[in-house]
Amino acid sequence: MLDVAPQAHRGARSPAQPADERLYEYVPDLASLPRFHVWTLGCQMNRSDSEEMAGRLLRAGCEEAPSMDAADLVVINTCAIREGAEQKVIGRQGQLAQLKAARPGMRVVLTGCSVREPDRAGLQRRYPAVDLFLRPDEEPELVDRLGLASAQGDIGSVGAITTVGRTVVGVADGLSGTRARAIGEGSVARGSAVSAWLPIIYGCDKTCTYCIVPFSRGPERSRPFDDIVNEARSLAAAGYREVTLLGQNVNSYGHDLAPDARFAHVDAERWAGRQLDLHGRPDLAELIRAIDGLRTADGLPAIPRLRFVTSHPWDLSDRLIAALAECPSVCEHLHLPVQSGDDVVLRRMGRQYTISHYRERLARIREAVPGITISTDVIVGFCGETEEQFQATMALLEAVRYDQVFAAAYSPRPGTPAMRLVDDVPPEVKRRRLNELLTLQESIGLERNEAWLGREVRVLVETVTPPRGHDHADDHEGGAGSPAPRVAGRTRGNKLVHLPGGPALVGQEILVEIVHAGPYALRGTPNPDHVSAIR
Ligand code: SAH
Ligand code: SF4
Ligand code: F3S
Repeated sequence: MLDVAPQAHRGARSPAQPADERLYEYVPDLASLPRFHVWTLGCQMNRSDSEEMAGRLLRAGCEEAPSMDAADLVVINTCAIREGAEQKVIGRQGQLAQLKAARPGMRVVLTGCSVREPDRAGLQRRYPAVDLFLRPDEEPELVDRLGLASAQGDIGSVGAITTVGRTVVGVADGLSGTRARAIGEGSVARGSAVSAWLPIIYGCDKTCTYCIVPFSRGPERSRPFDDIVNEARSLAAAGYREVTLLGQNVNSYGHDLAPDARFAHVDAERWAGRQLDLHGRPDLAELIRAIDGLRTADGLPAIPRLRFVTSHPWDLSDRLIAALAECPSVCEHLHLPVQSGDDVVLRRMGRQYTISHYRERLARIREAVPGITISTDVIVGFCGETEEQFQATMALLEAVRYDQVFAAAYSPRPGTPAMRLVDDVPPEVKRRRLNELLTLQESIGLERNEAWLGREVRVLVETVTPPRGHDHADDHEGGAGSPAPRVAGRTRGNKLVHLPGGPALVGQEILVEIVHAGPYALRGTPNPDHVSAIR
């Protein structure tokens, strides 16, 4: 799930003030501290990491700048999933160099998935405007490495390394501790006051041959169970209406934690792919049940909407499916990446499941949670993909009828196992297959969305939509020159809904009648009797 829409910017944030006024004398002079701007690319994990980095900088006394041009410190949180994602940043090096020439003293930090240990030497060549490179697991050191740590600051952790195959990678061992400290001191600068990200597992242990993530983020490291539940509790207390549990593979949560008597009843064992003994350890099902179990005085879930991404099909246990069905706060939506509809391609991709296994899991979920919406990720044009194998993916889309498909052409990533395969599908064939697939999905998405026409759904309003150029044309309410304000939110099934309304609706879960359906979003009108918080 890439390139999610940026959350509404709440304006530049100001540094936190010390709780104890005796500490004021240790607060560095603001004028000597850089104004920072964080540019985040990639997935939700990166967005969550950026919230932590921004929080650390604010805590060190730095102010946030509204744009890169106005900043003395630019932090770029990169994505390396495809060549195109890296090019976006490489292509901005000239502009950054110009800004630096105009603002002596300006510094640029590059972090995120493009910073990989074996590549250190090449990084400076590819990103000449950058002063400091930090691997994802080194991000908590940002403030110290820039020499910005104040007398109140924590001592950062030092990134450790290990090997994945024969590649040296950073390990996420320190991240659970640094996250817990950031939560303890309230320094995560969350981008939304409605919907929060909550990382539960870092890294990835899977064997997808095309993917850079295990080399960028290192092996899987689960956060301690109680830390996560405590963070969820504090989010509920702060009024968050929705929490998304994050990880490259949330379904693998807990396998690396020590067995604990509280979880003696967990008797799961991974039965697809590489064997894994999960006895006596917490798993995602336990975690979801614990967070769902946080209740208000009137017995309702303290966090009304609980989501999680991403799920690898091989760890989608019956225990998890039961938790989805039984926990009222868990939203009726599952993102279950399939990647290809052909078993031979799946094997070459190292995905460790077959289409029949995948479809069996899907059938179970649909039976357990009727009406659940399903989205997926697909790669077209992977090494050796024949026309027939591509058609198998098309047939899968026809049969499953996903609500949403995130599709991309295969992009070879240096250092991944698939570099040993031949990238033999020509670019124009990849493009054609991608277009064909997107066209098919557009009609399926439309059909799925049209099923909501005329129905009343609960929408959690998240953002005010900025007016667009053509808003005047189809606007009848605001009068000439002032388009009616619009807001956007999501149904529990993760459908994006646009509706009329202003900032007062943000954070409210309201009843909306769906009046228009497009392939990617719905439009609705709020039920006038329910334009107030439902509870
Ligand atoms: N951990 C998640 C996916 C994270 S990456 C999961 O396994 O489900 C998000 C998506 O990017 C993947 O699902 C895949 O579809 C796509 N992707 C990863 N590597 C890619 C590559 N080399 N070329 C094209 N797409 C890729
Ligand atoms: Fe990449 Fe596969 Fe891990 Fe997802 S599960 S992050 S696709 S290696
Ligand atoms: Fe990109 Fe890294 Fe996420 S490669 S998709 S930012 S884990």
